Amino acid sequence: MQHKYLDKIKSLEGPPRKVNIFSGKEISMIQELYTMLPERMFNKKQNVRKKVWEQNYKKELDEIYLNKLKEVLGDFKMDNLKSDKGEDYYGLFHESFAPLPIHVDSGFNPDDIPYKQIVTPLAPIGDTIFFKQRWYGRSTTFTIDPDDLKFKPKADQNDRSDKHIGNKEFDKEMHKKYLTHIDINNLKGMEIELIYNWKVGESLIVDRTHIHCASSRIDQKKLGLTTFTKK
Ligand SMILES: [Fe+2]
Repeated sequence: MQHKYLDKIKSLEGPPRKVNIFSGKEISMIQELYTMLPERMFNKKQNVRKKVWEQNYKKELDEIYLNKLKEVLGDFKMDNLKSDKGEDYYGLFHESFAPLPIHVDSGFNPDDIPYKQIVTPLAPIGDTIFFKQRWYGRSTTFTIDPDDLKFKPKADQNDRSDKHIGNKEFDKEMHKKYLTHIDINNLKGMEIELIYNWKVGESLIVDRTHIHCASSRIDQKKLGLTTFTKK
């Protein structure tokens, strides 16, 4: 699959942006909401615990969050799945105990126009590595493992691909410092655009077409909130 409205998607792209849109109190409210929400799934393979931001647990916070996002993003639609009642979830809380592999969260519907994702760290230690390379197909996990490449995804699961691979050897120092959880051959041709060092109180706004992964720097676990948007 390739996204249909490529020109439109590209016209909305820009460099990653760090913003301070939430006060300390608001960050605490988001952390509290996280503890209140029911656990949604525990992905054993990725070793990540996920919860979704369901509306109406803390109505006041729902409104604050939506309004602050509107201030920095302009017009947008949520794209984080919906509840049984058809209400948009406001984001995905992910508590990971092992770093995530290289992937892209570009979405699953070719008619959609993927826009920005907002990453809000809720616990201090960790980084997200954004590569210069972008992807305009379905959400994908990038791998060179021949068995993994045979994986046939369901409608809501990531594709597998090795089409991200280029010719240039990946920087050995960078690999050692940030990406030891990834086979260096799976990084061939990749170039780093930004190492986002997580800071509680900050949010990162970045295009959904950027290929990215977590760094190997995790102190037991990492907790963050990601909201996916579309136009
Ligand atoms: Fe991601």
